[in-house]
Amino acid sequence: MSYDDAMKALSNDALKFVKDGFVVGLGSGRAATTLVNSLSSLIKVKNYNIRGVSTSLQIKIIAEKKGIPLVEADQIDHIDVVFDGADQIDSQRYIIKGGGGALLRENILFSLANKIVVMADESKFVKNFTRTVPVEVHPLARNSVINAIKKLGGKTELRSLDKGYPFFTENGNIILDCNFGVIKNPKVLSQKIKQIPGVMESGIFVRKPDIIYRAMTGGKFEII
Ligand code: A5P
Repeated sequence: MSYDDAMKALSNDALKFVKDGFVVGLGSGRAATTLVNSLSSLIKVKNYNIRGVSTSLQIKIIAEKKGIPLVEADQIDHIDVVFDGADQIDSQRYIIKGGGGALLRENILFSLANKIVVMADESKFVKNFTRTVPVEVHPLARNSVINAIKKLGGKTELRSLDKGYPFFTENGNIILDCNFGVIKNPKVLSQKIKQIPGVMESGIFVRKPDIIYRAMTGGKFEII
């Protein structure tokens, strides 16, 4: 039994938060993909009338293939429940997102959601954040944001594709992966990052998830 088995099992369990008629936010990445597969089976078996809202082209394509009806975020005024993965989760339940570059849309969906369900394997759980913080930046503000992040004590690296070309988000922005070492006060840091002109989104999300699933070795999972 692997993490994939645990992720499948917890995705099926998480469907208890979905009711007929719901607008469901679809995150990005591996965990969200597993959830979309389970959701599509639920819709077929129960003949539910569900509308999905995607956070990225990655998950949109998968949801389309699975026959999940989709609406755009600007066509709805709320989301009943959003399901997403995370890059790191600290002991205060703050999360870092943006490993796949979808952080801006993910945070917009989080802001519209009545309930946030996050699913991650146990390697993502830490006492304090240790990984880099993805920061989405308007390309024109690249150097000014790099300097401002330095003043906050961070080291920046422009996210690049394999051949060295810059990675662009679906919103036409760049990502700076920022190393702040161990982060003891994520809320304050995120607020400071978001105040920098040209920053479109910080990967430290200050709204905490309502439900967190932890996938464990041996195919098991727990709700935290
Ligand atoms: C996308 O930008 C990210 O926030 C993902 O949600 C995050 O990287 C988790 O992805 P996995 O479920 O693939 O680990």
